[in-house]
Formats: sequence, structure tokens, C-alpha cells
Amino acid sequence: HWIVDNFSITHQHYPQIEEAAQLIRKGEVVAFPTETVYGLGGQVKLDQAVQKIFTAKGRPSDNPLIVHIADRKDVNRLAESVPDYAEALMASFWPGPLTIIVPKQEGVLSELVTAGLHTVAIRMPDHPVALALIKEAGIPVAAPSANRSGKPSPTTAAHVLDDLSGRIAGVLDGGDTGVGLESTVVDCTGPYPVILRPGGVTLTDIEAAVGKVEIGGSTFQNAKAVPKSPGMKYTHYAPEAPLYLIEGTHSFIQEKIDELRAEGKKVGMMATEESEHFYVADRIISCGCRYEIESVAKHLYGALRSFNSSSLDVILAETFPLEGVGAAIMNRLEKAAGHRWIKEVD
Ligand code: TXA
Ligand code: MG
Repeated sequence: HWIVDNFSITHQHYPQIEEAAQLIRKGEVVAFPTETVYGLGGQVKLDQAVQKIFTAKGRPSDNPLIVHIADRKDVNRLAESVPDYAEALMASFWPGPLTIIVPKQEGVLSELVTAGLHTVAIRMPDHPVALALIKEAGIPVAAPSANRSGKPSPTTAAHVLDDLSGRIAGVLDGGDTGVGLESTVVDCTGPYPVILRPGGVTLTDIEAAVGKVEIGGSTFQNAKAVPKSPGMKYTHYAPEAPLYLIEGTHSFIQEKIDELRAEGKKVGMMATEESEHFYVADRIISCGCRYEIESVAKHLYGALRSFNSSSLDVILAETFPLEGVGAAIMNRLEKAAGHRWIKEVD
């Protein structure tokens, strides 16, 4: 567990980053901070390194990884072709929370990275520690989020250690991540960009940069669509107790809490700073400020994880409007809840 102070990184020499990069070169796996969530990195060429990532996470082998780069030129080595609109996306949002899917160049990656697909997911993170690590490793780094499969993604080094301690070579601790939710995944293999996973870069941002955009995958409550991004079909982000999304007035929500507690259940309530004082429950956690929706994105996973320390029987969570990063928040909450809703009918 190496601690790195993000802010001075460009001006200083960090032996911790060199040590982590050396481990990556040798084929070990190391967790590192990005601006979205912590990633678990291994070098992209070596089967054993990539296999270690899947094993440490308990991740199904048919779910491909994102290749992280620090130099835009690496795209030309990894991709067979790049459409103009993808160039525009990279120019607008890199480094940043956007992943592009493009046809892959054969023979440059371990087949395990792309899980047998003919496409590759690429992103340049906007985080000084991540960029320094990738540069120092001298090779692109395949990295999924650094959580055990099915759990919320880690937004602190402590979350990484809770899930993966003893299973990985180390974690570079750069403090809390920024966005708090994973990158937006955009399929760039067709005539238009298609958003497969909503994330830090919003639909509006992408439309402003490239015009026409489609929404695909199982994102945005589009449950009928066949998952094009393999990861979208698995259970995700779930706390230990079953989670329900609840919509209605504070008094409706409190009635539901009371009913559940009357049945002898221990109830957790995920609220916001505006609403937490309205509720009485066994555990109440605020995931941020409803009117600063970015703060909810930032604290959502930490809040979901916090419920695990209270041995609850059920958790209810408030919902959010789909505008801006709200789409990504609701996408993750829907998955965490397995699409279970309780709604007030008027
Ligand atoms: O913000 C992020 O994207 C974080 C940080 C660490 O960079 N990474 C991350 O990785 O969230 P992961 O593995 O948890 O999610 C990657 C998603 C999965 O849903 C996966 O199925 C999809 O990207 N994906 C990867 N390669 C793909 C491909 N070639 N085609 C379609 N989907 C792909
Ligand atoms: Mg993940």
C-alpha cells in the first residue's frame, strides 16, 4: 500500500510509482487511482498478467477489459481503424472519463483482454498518478475497476484493500477519486457513436461534440436491448442486503420503512443531505447533495459500501432525475437494485 500525493506528482520523483510500474512490467497486477474509480492494472501483452486480473476480481472471462493509455499515439497501434467522430471524441474528452470501442489491431494484445472480441476498449485517464504509472510501465495497462466482481467500484484505496487485499501486488493510494462513477463507454464501430454505458461524460456533452449519438446496451433503463457490452449483463454494484429503489414523498417512504421494521426487518435508507433528517431507520446514509448531482456520483459507491457494516435486512434508496450524470447514477442504482422499485401511486 503505497501512498502518493497526487497534486505534486508532476514535480516530484515517486519511487512508489516506479516500484508499481516495475511490478507491472514483470507481469504483476497493481491497483491505481483514476479520475473515475480505482483500476486494477496489468500489462496488456502478457496472458499471465491479464489472467491475474480476472482471478483477483473473480471476473467472468467473457467480460473484456479497458486498455488504459497515456499517449494518444498508442490508439493507432491498438486500433485497426478509427472513425472521424471517434477522433473528435478523443480530442474533446481525453484525458477524461470516456472509453472508445474500436476495431482492434490483431496481435498486439493478449486475447484475454478483449475476451475474444474483434474490438478493443481504450481510454486515457485524467489522473496524474494513473498517467505517470502507465508512462513508467512503458506499455498500455489493461484495467477493470479494482473491486471484487459484483461489488460497487472502489473510490478509495481502503475500498480496494477491503476487496482485494492479499490478492494483488499492491495499491497506489492517491486519495479519493474524482467523478466516482466509471467512464462513459462509447461504441465507435458503426456510422454513429453508441453509448453502451453512461458515465462521467454525459449524453449532452457527447452530442455537443459530435452531433448524432445513439443509446444502446442495457443503459438508460433500456432493459430489452441485447447487451452489446458484455459487462452489462452481470449483477453489479450491489451492497450485501437487497436494495430497492423508492419513489414518493418523504412520508410515503417513511411509511414503507415503518412497515418493514414492523415485520422485524433492519432497514437502511439511502438519502441525501436534503432528506436524511426526514427519516427514522436502522441506518441512514446520505450519498450527497441532490442539487449538486456530481456530489451524488462521487459518494454513491462509498455510501452503498457503508451499509455493509450494519447487517441490514433491506435497503431503500431514493432515486434521481436522468439529466446529466443522473443517467449514470440511475444506471448503477438500477443494477444495484436488480431493477426492483417501490413507487407511490397517486
Ligand atoms: O472508469 C472506468 O472505465 C474504470 C477505470 C478503472 O478506468 N474501468 C472500468 O472497467 O470501469 P470495467 O472493466 O469495470 O468496465 C469496462 C466495461 C465493461 O462493461 C466491459 O464489458 C466493457 O467496458 N467493454 C470492454 N471492452 C469492450 C469491448 N471491446 N466491447 C464492448 N464493451 C467492452
Ligand atoms: Mg467494473
